[in-house]
Amino acid sequence: MSTVSALPQRKITLLTLQAKKDRGEPITMLTAYDFPTARALDRAGVDSILVGDSLGMVVLGYDTTIPVTMEDMLHHARAVSRGAKIAHLIGDMPFMSYQTSVEDAVRNAGRFLKDGGMNAVKLEGGREIVPAVRAIVAAGIPVVGHIGLTPQKVNQLGGFRTQGKSAAAARTLIEDAHALQDAGCHLLVLEAIPDRLAALITQRLAIPTIGIGAGAACGGQVLVTHDLLGMTDGFTPKFVKRYANLGEEIARGVGAYVEDVSSGRFPEAIHAQPLDEDVFRALTRESDFRIAR
Ligand code: KIV
Repeated sequence: MSTVSALPQRKITLLTLQAKKDRGEPITMLTAYDFPTARALDRAGVDSILVGDSLGMVVLGYDTTIPVTMEDMLHHARAVSRGAKIAHLIGDMPFMSYQTSVEDAVRNAGRFLKDGGMNAVKLEGGREIVPAVRAIVAAGIPVVGHIGLTPQKVNQLGGFRTQGKSAAAARTLIEDAHALQDAGCHLLVLEAIPDRLAALITQRLAIPTIGIGAGAACGGQVLVTHDLLGMTDGFTPKFVKRYANLGEEIARGVGAYVEDVSSGRFPEAIHAQPLDEDVFRALTRESDFRIAR
């Protein structure tokens, strides 16, 4: 019987993802911000790993993604690229790394590939970012678009709320989706929009859509890993499905450690390094030392 693993052995590229879409196979994407998580996701066979600027909220403790910097993102992108060798790696361009000028956008996108080990970058926004997308793609850097709820615009949107609910808003999103595809995006994230609108956009585009809170018709799905593993406190969006409760498991393990250390049950002899008997004797004979046996 063959023992060949079912997991993908070759690096997943934008061509692999497009071929999956063309075959009607859903694409899997999750976020990661560190080496061990990236390694676990890669081993589990996730197609694509997004080093999201959600880093700011789930790892750095900010209320929004606004304070996240290029240096924050590159630091975590490097850790993820050391852990994941198969998945398609996407670095999320943080607030004000691409909005200020097309030159800044290209320079910062390039840093994700040169210094961060990423394969592509993601930008939030519609038609207004088309010049930046075109220039980044022209520089040879694959770009993922992101429309719908775009968290970097939380102050303009008035909160983290579903987008595209009216006919006018839905039409704008459809036009944005086409504009981003035409500008050269190879994937498009649809966040928090009605499922039938996401289905319409998905049908109209040749590139895969990746949904988060956008229903089942998208070409693939992405979630924030800390949400699905139960490592986030407070509000959890309705579109998140919990697959584990690691937050409780961590609290249980750490609580047991605190009890063991406090009561003297840890460490035991098996956790210690023995000192050679002759060395110990020599030390205890030396008059300078007063070592109790
Ligand atoms: O930053 C992020 O994690 C994201 C996903 C939610 C798509 O943009």
